[in-house]
Amino acid sequence: MTDLRLEIAAHLERARARTALLTDTVDEDDLTRQHSPLMSPLVWDLAHVGNQEELWLVRDVGGRDPVRQDIDELYDAFKHARSDRPALPLLNPVEARAYTAQVRDKVLDVLDRVRFDRGQRLVDGGFAFGMIVQHEQQHDETMLATHQLRTGPAVLTAPAPPSPRARVTGEVLIEQGRFTMGTDTEPWALDNERPAHPVDVPAFWIDAAPITNGQYLAFMDAGGYDDPRWWSERGRQHRQKANLTAPLHWIRDRDGWLYNRFGRVEPVNPDEPVVHVCFYEAEAYAAWAGKRLPTEAEWEKAARWDPATGRSRRYPWGDDPPGPRHANLGQRHLSPAPAGAYPDGASPQGVHQLIGDVWEWTSSGFHGYPGFSAFPYREYSEVFFGGDYRVLRGGSFGTDAAACRGTFRNWDHPIRRQIFSGFRCARDA
Ligand SMILES: [Fe+2]
Repeated sequence: MTDLRLEIAAHLERARARTALLTDTVDEDDLTRQHSPLMSPLVWDLAHVGNQEELWLVRDVGGRDPVRQDIDELYDAFKHARSDRPALPLLNPVEARAYTAQVRDKVLDVLDRVRFDRGQRLVDGGFAFGMIVQHEQQHDETMLATHQLRTGPAVLTAPAPPSPRARVTGEVLIEQGRFTMGTDTEPWALDNERPAHPVDVPAFWIDAAPITNGQYLAFMDAGGYDDPRWWSERGRQHRQKANLTAPLHWIRDRDGWLYNRFGRVEPVNPDEPVVHVCFYEAEAYAAWAGKRLPTEAEWEKAARWDPATGRSRRYPWGDDPPGPRHANLGQRHLSPAPAGAYPDGASPQGVHQLIGDVWEWTSSGFHGYPGFSAFPYREYSEVFFGGDYRVLRGGSFGTDAAACRGTFRNWDHPIRRQIFSGFRCARDA
């Protein structure tokens, strides 16, 4: 097998091991129940992962006969809202596991035989396999968020993230000038990350680390939730309607706050990045702090631009793939790591933890870059352009390295906070 085949096989296996961990640790009732109207039942995600793999790798790349064409409609994410999925005649857990395993067998056979040099963009550099690896890992992160919403005794365990090795506070100045945003060269980059294009960015300050629980508590203690000065009109309306008073999963405990983390209740750690806040909460905090959220271009410049060469790199630390010393990714830990835990992952200018820990809200809506073209299907990104979304960057502790790059773009509704979302602030220089 070539290196690329081995690499793809290892990625597929790692994704499947994670899917198994997330679905084997709960019982049948937990797999088929809806833990929140925002989420699919876990058993839907499981078979949907197999169905997408079948559509793209068995049928399209492999040119093979369908395994289960009759279920395509059930697992088409555009046909049924998440809240409606429990009522569908879904495969039961035993059937869903057997189906995904059957698909995977065929995919490994397709992988053995596929010619990556057949002059098709879909297989060039293993793209379709990379897309499916990222798809499964993205659903694994979604399933991890479902675990966080699930009630009952804890089932997931992981070691605590590393302790701080550097004291990281304050802001970093990113000087004005043009940088290259997006990519033409990253083989598994998705259509919305392309093409590479120059962007002029005025000088700005950006926080050296994500906003911590301690900083966020200061905003709460200062009456930030109730002070209309800090909230946009839409933010204020949502705060009242949803009765927001603290991040999701926080529990008031006499003078302090507790946090229910995957079924374990523990005190809120002031040094950890705040997580489970919506865009409006992030925006209000930033206003209270006399700052604003970074634009998407500012975030990417802080993460990729190397002042020594003027080049945009793959990650803040350079072009090496993320390892355990660089960033808190891949569900190795079940929480964000405290500020200063990953000095080896900092940018040359000293911006820390841009990758991993928490998805970071930016102030930008979701649009195609100049020269965008949908590939391989419009529903991946294009149909969401211009909608009521804000872009999030950098990945969380629940994002796998395969689905996280300096160019990777995530987007969600500004009210959402069941995702592993935090933020950092910026301001004009
Ligand atoms: Fe999906």
